[in-house]
Amino acid sequence: MRRRRSISLASPVDLSVDLGRGLILANPVMTASGTCGYGEELARFIDLRQLGAFVVKGTTLHPRVGNPPPRLVETPAGVLNSIGLQNPGIDRVIAEKIPFLARLGVPVIVNIAGDTPAEYGELAARLDKVSGVAGIELNISCPNVEKGGMLFGADPQLAAEVVATVRQVTRLPVIVKLSPNVTDIGIMARAVVQAGADAVSLVNTYTGMVIDVERRRPVLARGVGGLSGPAIRPLAVYQVWQAYRALSDTDREGGGGGERSKVPIIGMGGITSARDALEFILAGASAVAVGTATFVRPVTVLEVVSGIREYCQRHGIRSLRQLVGAAHREGLA
Ligand SMILES: Cc1cc2nc3c(=O)[nH]c(=O)nc-3n(C[C@H](O)[C@H](O)[C@H](O)COP(=O)(O)O)c2cc1C
Repeated sequence: MRRRRSISLASPVDLSVDLGRGLILANPVMTASGTCGYGEELARFIDLRQLGAFVVKGTTLHPRVGNPPPRLVETPAGVLNSIGLQNPGIDRVIAEKIPFLARLGVPVIVNIAGDTPAEYGELAARLDKVSGVAGIELNISCPNVEKGGMLFGADPQLAAEVVATVRQVTRLPVIVKLSPNVTDIGIMARAVVQAGADAVSLVNTYTGMVIDVERRRPVLARGVGGLSGPAIRPLAVYQVWQAYRALSDTDREGGGGGERSKVPIIGMGGITSARDALEFILAGASAVAVGTATFVRPVTVLEVVSGIREYCQRHGIRSLRQLVGAAHREGLA
């Protein structure tokens, strides 16, 4: 007879995550880029030091005013946005925004976007030696800008070119944010990893549209936008599942990686609770990000951390790493 192991509620659980190149997060939960700005507002509600990492809003070489309003509309269980990368530009972000987060001591990951591979390289080079910057996330998947963005996110060769350019100019961990608006996200994931990405994050928003039937035109001034929030969660979990499978055959040098993906995946899309986050982890994510839910309840991101810890304790899991991709190993019902 197998004896059931009793684990006391106080059992320590190792929630740490290794994102590569020495970037080890104390826990797997971070903010999703563009949904918490640079942390000043969120810091009024929660202790940012309890986050695994803070991911800064999309940053470009030059300041951008973004798209004209309206650029945000609520949808059933979601939000459609077309902000268009409004930001003060890299120089002001480095001078005025990063010091606040760096002083807190939370690992800062800066999300960058460019119109050309060279622009991504320039941005990464400027961030390379900035104190407090722990990693760079390449947004190659913004559906809300005319140039760059999705162009790179839907073409494996262009995406690889962006990553290779950035890889040459920085030793910081490079995370590549993938778009779900592609036929096979596994192809994109493999391409960026073979080009030198340390980790991938997914998903960015799904391209969508809302029409105002009285005015007989799209609600958003730009027409299209990106859908986020609980509405996209099952779609996003599936994309993480697919990326994990694709990366299980690929290691960073392009060879066979074996049954488990060695490349960390940061999963996101509609996470509102620890239970939601665990779906992503079981599908293959080593870490998760919370975005739209923060608009409703700023404390959600910390509740996800404590909820994951509590789940591990309840199930006798000593290290979160045991759960990463576990649903692949369980087989189907
Ligand atoms: C208002 C808004 C702005 C966003 N801005 C960015 C951005 O600047 N860079 C980026 O990579 N993703 C951006 N995203 C996408 C989120 O980081 C995230 O990938 C997506 O919203 C899915 O997660 P969620 O459903 O938890 O919000 C933005 C999302 C929203 C809602």
